[in-house]
Amino acid sequence: MNKTNAWNNIPLADYERHMQHESVAQAQLLNDLTCKYVQKYQPESLLFLGISGGNGLEHIDVKKTKSVYGVDINNLYLEETQKRFGEKIKQLVLVNTDISTSNEAFLKADFVWAALIFEYIDIEKGFEFITNNTCEGAKLIITIQSNNGTQSVSQTGVESIKSVKDIFKIVDKDNLQAHALKAGFELIGFGENILPNGKSFLTYEFGRI
Ligand SMILES: C[S@@+](CC[C@H](N)C(=O)[O-])C[C@H]1O[C@@H](n2cnc3c(N)ncnc32)[C@H](O)[C@@H]1O
Repeated sequence: MNKTNAWNNIPLADYERHMQHESVAQAQLLNDLTCKYVQKYQPESLLFLGISGGNGLEHIDVKKTKSVYGVDINNLYLEETQKRFGEKIKQLVLVNTDISTSNEAFLKADFVWAALIFEYIDIEKGFEFITNNTCEGAKLIITIQSNNGTQSVSQTGVESIKSVKDIFKIVDKDNLQAHALKAGFELIGFGENILPNGKSFLTYEFGRI
């Protein structure tokens, strides 16, 4: 595993404190968005990219969703996610891998939730990973951050989170859509949510052709 990746140096408690800080308020919005799209598509087989501590997993209907896969580069995040949700979601499988280098096919998901992950991975490799792990007709939801002229990583007093600044990059929305199309995903929906600090989340819904 890639121990040099900055995400492996951030304690989950720090990450979550940062995301919940009132000036950031991204944790609650991501939770709401997970709820919205999981309920909309009611997947049978779900793949969650960059699952961190499992924010939003409580919205999965364990009777309908037969497999739940979560991927993250930080194994400590996965251990905590297992502790939090392993009892309730018996079909939960957590995979410690680097999306930017993995060529593996773990499942054929019919739904992928990819929120704030493309900011940290190679875009082409990201789509390759998704293609390897989805079936035809799969729905792919990607949320990216739009800074609208503000700093990429907000000041919340959480020091460790600053180390991801160097690997964070704003995802160009046209480039994202072009790569999606090239990988066989057509755009079927879009939404924008404004955050307290003026940033926003852009959420793209794609369907695999
Ligand atoms: C900003 S968080 C994503 C949002 C998160 N799902 C939430 O709701 O709070 C990015 C996550 O992706 C993981 N990650 C970053 N780069 C990765 C990579 N190359 N492969 C796999 N996971 C990665 C990080 O460890 C982190 O948990």
